[in-house]
Formats: sequence, C-alpha cells, structure tokens
Amino acid sequence: MCGIVGYIGPRDATPIVLNGLKRLEYRGYDSAGLAVLQNSHIEVRRDAGKLARLSALVNEAPVHGHVGIGHTRWATHGAPSARNAHPHLGMTGNVVVVHNGIVENFLELRAELSAEGVVFKSDTDTEVIVHLVERYLATDTALPEAVRRALLLLKGAHGVVVLSSKEPDKIVAARIGNAGGVVVGFGEGEMFVASDMPAILEHTRQMVFLESRQMAVITSQGLEVQTLEGKAVQYEIHSVAWDPVAAEKGEYRHFMQKEIHEQVRSLTDTIAGRVDFEEGRIRLPELNLTPELAQRIRKIVITACGTASHAGMVGKVLIERIARLPVEVDIASEFRYRDPIVDHDTVVLAISQSGETADTLAAMEEARRKGAILWANVNVIGSQAMRVADGYISMQTGPEIGVASTKAYTAPLVDLYMLAVLLADLRGVLDEQTRRRLVNDLRLVPDLAGRCLDREAEVEKVARALVNTRHCLYLGRGINMPTAYEGALKLKEISYIHAEGYPAGEMKHGPIALIDKDMPVVVIALRDPWYEKMFSQIEQAKARGGTVVALATDGDSLIATKADHVVWLPETPWMLSPAIAVIPLQMLAYHIAALRGLDVDQPRNLAKSVTVE
Ligand code: G6P
Repeated sequence: MCGIVGYIGPRDATPIVLNGLKRLEYRGYDSAGLAVLQNSHIEVRRDAGKLARLSALVNEAPVHGHVGIGHTRWATHGAPSARNAHPHLGMTGNVVVVHNGIVENFLELRAELSAEGVVFKSDTDTEVIVHLVERYLATDTALPEAVRRALLLLKGAHGVVVLSSKEPDKIVAARIGNAGGVVVGFGEGEMFVASDMPAILEHTRQMVFLESRQMAVITSQGLEVQTLEGKAVQYEIHSVAWDPVAAEKGEYRHFMQKEIHEQVRSLTDTIAGRVDFEEGRIRLPELNLTPELAQRIRKIVITACGTASHAGMVGKVLIERIARLPVEVDIASEFRYRDPIVDHDTVVLAISQSGETADTLAAMEEARRKGAILWANVNVIGSQAMRVADGYISMQTGPEIGVASTKAYTAPLVDLYMLAVLLADLRGVLDEQTRRRLVNDLRLVPDLAGRCLDREAEVEKVARALVNTRHCLYLGRGINMPTAYEGALKLKEISYIHAEGYPAGEMKHGPIALIDKDMPVVVIALRDPWYEKMFSQIEQAKARGGTVVALATDGDSLIATKADHVVWLPETPWMLSPAIAVIPLQMLAYHIAALRGLDVDQPRNLAKSVTVE
C-alpha cells in the first residue's frame, strides 16, 4: 500500500523521512523514493525494490536538507521501476510530488498537457499532477494556489504532498476523498505530514487529520488549512495515545471501522499493477495462467468459508457472465466430503483471507488428490493456501484485524472481476470494445467506495432506528444476492441480531410469512438488471406492514416514496456493484453493534482464522 511521509524543520529531513517510511513498510510496496531540498535544489532518490535499496542510494549519493518528502509505492499505472517511483519532478526541476490514489482522468489530462508541450518522464498517472502545478506556477501563482487549482482538475480520490524549491519554507498537502488519510503532526519548531500516524508517531502525538477536500500549508511553525474551494478551515488538534495498537487504530473507534474506511485504499492497491488502462488488459502473473491453460479449463469450482464464500458467489456470476465458463461455488466443509467431480481440466479456486482455514485447506487437498488445477485468492502472504496452490492472486488489503471481514471481502470481488476479464481475454470470448470498457470501469471503484464512506452519518441514522430490532431480513438478487448474505452475516456476527440473507425471488416461498412491523427488511434495489424485480419486493414488504430499508441508486425518487429508510449509493457499473453496495451494509452492522456497546473487533465465539475443523 502506498505510504507518504514528510518533514519540515531544523533537523535533517533525510533520516526522518527514511525512518517514517520504514514504519509503513508492513503495508507492502514495490518501490520507494524521497525528495529533499538541498541548497535550494530538489534532490530525488528513488528506485524499485525495498527501502534497503533506497537507503543504499542515499548512502552512495548523500542528500541533506531541512525539508523532505518520501513515498512507498504499489504500482498502479506503470511497472515498479526507478522512473515510475515517486517522488515525481516537473519539467523545471523546481516542483516535486508524491501521491496516493488513482487519477481517474489521467489519460485526458496527459493528452491535454502533452499538447501544451509537456514531456512525460514516467508511465504514472501521478506525473500529471506535478505538471498541472507547474502550469499554474508559470503564471506567477503561489504554490498553495497552484496546487489547489491543479487538484480541482483531478477525478478520483487522492492524498497528495507537494514541495517547491522556489518556496522552500512550506509543504503543501491535500486529501480528496478517501485514498488513505493525510495527517499532520506538530513538533517543537518542526512539523510532520504522513498518510498514516505510525510514520510520525515517534516524533509527536499532536495531530490534525485532514478531511476530504482540504488542503494544508505546512511550515516549520505551524499549519493553515483551507478547503479546495479556498475557504479557511478551523482545525482541531487531536492528542493521540502512544500505545501502538491504539495508534494503529488512528482516528477510529474500532479496527473494523478503520478497515471499512481503508477500502478506498485497499481497492486502489487491488488494481495496482494488475491493470493496463492504456491497453485495456489485466495482468495476474502469479496465477501462472497461460493461453493454453485458459483454453483447457472446462469448469471452475470456487471453494471457501464464511465471508470468502460470499465473494465466491459473486465470482460465479462474473466468471460465467464475462468468461462464459461454468462455475460452481462450494462451501469448503461440504466440498471435501462430497466426493466432488473434478478432474485435470477443472480449476479449484480457494478464497481465504487467512489462507489457513482448516476446511478450505482440506478442500484444496482433496482437489489436489483428484488432479485439479489449484488456485488461491488469499490475503496473508506465505500462508499455506498460497504455498500449495499452482497459482494465486494476493488480496492487496494489508493486515485485517477485525474478526468480521470487511476489506478482505471487497478485494476478492475485484480480484474475481479481473480474473473473469483475463480468462475471457485469453479464451477469446470478449470483443475489444467490451474488454476495454470492463477494464476501464475498474478505475472508478476506489472513488465510488469513498463516496459511500462519505455517507456514514446517514447510515448511522438508520442504525439508530434499527438498534433494538431482534431480527432482520436482507434481500438481494442476481449479482447482489451474495451482498444480502454478506450484509446479514455482518449484522449477526457483531451485533448478535438474528439476520438472514435471502435471494429475493425466494421471498414468496417462505420468508414473506415472517414480515410484520417487527421484521425490518433490507432490500438491495440498485439500478441494475434486477431493479424492477427488487422494486416489487419493496412493495410486497410494505403491503405487509414491514419496515423497509432500501439500498438505492442516487436519484431514484420512486424508491424514496416507498421505503422507510433509503441508503443512497452512487451509480456504479453493475458488475462492480457488489464491492460498493456492501460498504453501507458493513457500516450499518458496525454502527448497530457499536451503539449496542458490543466488542465489535472480537465478537463472542468467533475467531479470525479457524484452523480446526
Ligand atoms: C472465520 C472468520 C470469517 C471468515 C472465515 C473464513 O469464520 O470469522 O470472517 O470469513 O473464517 O476465513 P478465511 O481466512 O478463510 O477467509
């Protein structure tokens, strides 16, 4: 996951930046770099590889100064290499930028800047930012104003930090949406900035967290904050606890809440390095999927437990729809005892956050015994499931601490979408235009997730209304049927409220008998191919006196007149909607449990990783 650190003050910035980056190392990265202002000149050191490589570069060609910024990068646009590593310098050599997030409209902006004579030196989306800043600096604008104007042109979610040798007394940092945070730390005559608190915690406990669309101008003496619209903001300084666990939780009350909010970042990292937006192609090299193998596969069996099995259900819809390959989904504890029909032309794909779930591993063993091709989609690098598989896709979420899985649910949804596109491409069942559209849609995902997170207060209101309920029914259909299952699972896991997910079409065959005023029904009714069917579910539930909470697409005024509560979602390509629609349901479960005062991160009787049968 990308990380940012910056320093301004009397000390040497280089070791402070390097140490800060070291503290973010556990998040994973594939290149690193720093920029330090040395004698009115910006010096950049950067390369692919680990921080040891960056330290070696700094030892070979030392750099010292009182202002510096650094970055660890997970490649999104362009391979991990020295030229694509951050920081990125502009044409003048006077401005430098580090960035977390994806510039969704970078192709358009790059074309525009190239037409203005800008020569690009990297394959990154980030580089457009530094050139845009220089465009405005060229008209005698001061750095903060130039950054502000540049940022207004970006689509997507971003954390950005900028330095200029022409204005050496300041660092400008901004946050747009939720591509990770931007935190500013106060020292004695010195200031720090970072994407995450642990990077600067050894220096200060006094922190300001930027909100979305806020920009900070940081000098060694303090900080000014304004909105991207240029309005001054009164900020609040938080005194954070020293305890490393609390520090890791940051501004959140529970890990689960933090992990829900981390999804913009984990989804950015999920597509990082796997998507070639220019060619409209997917790369999943660790899967070892050759065109010959792709042609040979007759069937895919997805096997998993718990939340991961719900991800598998979405995967079935995606792979069947996009790659036209039959997919079965089997709960791992069932698969292993059923003498399943798999052979050399069957892929058995295990999905597991931990990669250590006993039933999932046993299912993999059974598949191995029968000669199937074994794939794994796992989060924990080096786990057993990853080791025994013939190929794998790693979830790029970073560690997940909350027992109830959140970010390790949305990451595999996107992994499976990418897998479906890759399989379809290699099997020759996709026309170029559709392939490009499907790939292009991926860049919308992180920001769409962020826009759901921005509406947390609305979801909390619904949580207040439901806090005392004893039962809850979740209905979904098509690609969002598993979203209903997952929403219900989240609620029962952490709030101990009885909740059931149901395929909406089955309501008339049973659950409808339960509906009355004491049985709230959560209906996922997005503008997708199942919309009309879902709308009629709302009418049926209302006709029987049920309380309806609808998940609806922005602007659906009809639903607003029918449902008791509406949670709005931004318009999303339907094949990617499960990764977005589940976010409000995660927040709903979280807030209900938190309002009930429960141990959200460690619910009773549940374990993060179930290593027994
Ligand atoms: C446990 C956890 C769930 C998780 C399931 C599968 O039950 O509490 O959150 O979904 O195991 O875990 P895995 O690590 O295989 O994804």
